[in-house]
Amino acid sequence: MTAEDLAALPLSGKRVLVREDLNVPLQDGRITDLTRIQATLPTLRMLRERGAKVILMSHLGRPKGRVVESLRLAPVARALSDALGVAVTTASDCIGDAAREAVARMHDGDVLVLENLRFHPGEEANDPQFARELASLGDLYVNDAFGTAHRAHASTVGITKFLPSYMGPLLAREVEILDSVLRHPQRPLCAVLGGAKVADKIGVMERLLDLCDAIVIGGGMANTLLAAQGFDVGTSLRDADLEPARRIVQRIEHEAAKVDVHLPSDAIVTTRLAPDAPVREADVDHIAPDEMIADIGPATAMDFRGVILEAKTVLWNGPMGVFEIDAFAAGTEAIGQAIVDSGAISVVGGGDSAAAARKFGFADKMTHVSTGGGATLEYIEGKELPGIAALRSAQPT
Ligand code: 3PG
Repeated sequence: MTAEDLAALPLSGKRVLVREDLNVPLQDGRITDLTRIQATLPTLRMLRERGAKVILMSHLGRPKGRVVESLRLAPVARALSDALGVAVTTASDCIGDAAREAVARMHDGDVLVLENLRFHPGEEANDPQFARELASLGDLYVNDAFGTAHRAHASTVGITKFLPSYMGPLLAREVEILDSVLRHPQRPLCAVLGGAKVADKIGVMERLLDLCDAIVIGGGMANTLLAAQGFDVGTSLRDADLEPARRIVQRIEHEAAKVDVHLPSDAIVTTRLAPDAPVREADVDHIAPDEMIADIGPATAMDFRGVILEAKTVLWNGPMGVFEIDAFAAGTEAIGQAIVDSGAISVVGGGDSAAAARKFGFADKMTHVSTGGGATLEYIEGKELPGIAALRSAQPT
């Protein structure tokens, strides 16, 4: 059922099991990016204000069905508590006595974080018994985890068999924004693509070639496409198998009249990816065998900027280079700046480009920064996400 159905429901005193994607990046036990936590706050505030007992479920990392101490959700609960300005309790497990007792202690408006779902193999196996145990903790279920909607797991799919199930406001907003860009974009629609493998994004490229007026491509994806066009890209990060990229190159050539696709003409190259590495600008047909592309070059950045400034809608997925290292960050920063300057409706999807948008201070200037990584890509590709499909078919029980 939809977020509107949820809005119409009396929630006072109800135990609401909420699936969020609190899978945040951690370094030495510290959360390095709060975006996913902040994105949940409107939902959590709304549920608290309506008197619900808010029981949060999430995975963190990939513990593969066993307890991994460094992947406990305690730091996430602390960050939520800071952000909401209320106490947020934790349970030492997500099912069983520990979870039941923690829920029994809750008052209306309280927030509880259950322990990492993926400590149990039943989560990823979408095991009905595990889903039933989760469901027994709540009166109703809200899936608000867009970032995990492409996973058919117990907490995203199985649980909908056992509880009245609703789409949460964050999930609804993510879908609405992506739909508006993909179905009824203000044109010209430009996709900015980067990041690593072409092979992982073939489906996305195919769909975008159908939908877009222009596409600019940098990052590892461009390296692979350049190699498929016959350029020697030295030791650049690229797919070993060039066959999928060759098919894309053929399609780009075939559709040239319909979609304006731009690849890099120059690059920042180096012999190693380190802050103190020697760098130089090179045209893409003058890369030495021991050099690698680490960023787009200035001519390419200008070219891409021109395309982006024409756009009324921009969809950005993937950085232009190794932006984490300052020497290779200029291309990604220039592209982010161009998107801001274009005044276009801008949607950023995928973890790396979202991180880049934040690093350069553009995140607040984009229309929408998606909380999804793989989920955003699968959605763009046109796949039905199991977590969303399960809500559409869920009936009140
Ligand atoms: C993500 O970070 O993309 C989601 O939280 C899903 O995580 P997963 O790829 O480990 O399933």
